[in-house]
Amino acid sequence: MAVVSAETIPVQSEPDVVGVRRRVREVSAKLGFSLVDQTKVVTAASELARNTVIYGGGGSLHIETLNGPRVGLRLTFEDKGPGIPDLDLALRDGFTTGSGLGLGLGGAKRLVSEFEVRSRVGEGTTIIATRWK
Ligand SMILES: Nc1ncnc2c1ncn2[C@@H]1O[C@H](COP(=O)(O)OP(=O)(O)OP(=O)(O)O)[C@@H](O)[C@H]1O
Ligand SMILES: [Mg+2]
Repeated sequence: MAVVSAETIPVQSEPDVVGVRRRVREVSAKLGFSLVDQTKVVTAASELARNTVIYGGGGSLHIETLNGPRVGLRLTFEDKGPGIPDLDLALRDGFTTGSGLGLGLGGAKRLVSEFEVRSRVGEGTTIIATRWK
C-alpha cells in the first residue's frame, strides 16, 4: 500500500468543519468514489471533525490518498483534548456527554471500511477512518 498524496488541515472551529467537508468531498471525488460513497465519507468526516472541535478542543485532520492495489481515502483526526475514558460507551448509539444525540461516533464507524480509535485520558484522541473505493 502506498500513500499517493497527503495534506493536513486545521479542525479548530465550526468554519473548519465546513472546510473539512469541502476538502473531503473534493478528494473523494478525485479518487473516483461514487456520489453515494462521497456522501458517506463526508458525513463520517463531518461527525469526527465536529467531535474534534467540541470535545477535543480543536485539532487537525490528515488526509491521505492510498493506492496499490486498492484505492482508498484515510482520514486521521487528532486532538490533544481530555481523551475518551470508555470507548465502548462512547461508541454506543445515544451516549453523549454533551448536548448531541450521541450518534456521531458510532455512525462514523459504520460509514467507513476501517475505524481505529487511540485515546488516552489527559493526552488526547486520534481516530483513523479509512474508506476503500
Ligand atoms: N475527540 C474526542 N475527545 C473526547 N471525547 C470525545 C471525542 N469524540 C467523542 N467523544 C465523546 O464521545 C461521546 C459520543 O460521541 P458522539 O459523536 O457519538 O456523540 P455526540 O457528539 O455527543 O452527539 P452527536 O454526534 O450525535 O451530535 C461524546 O459525547 C464525547 O463524550
Ligand atoms: Mg458527535
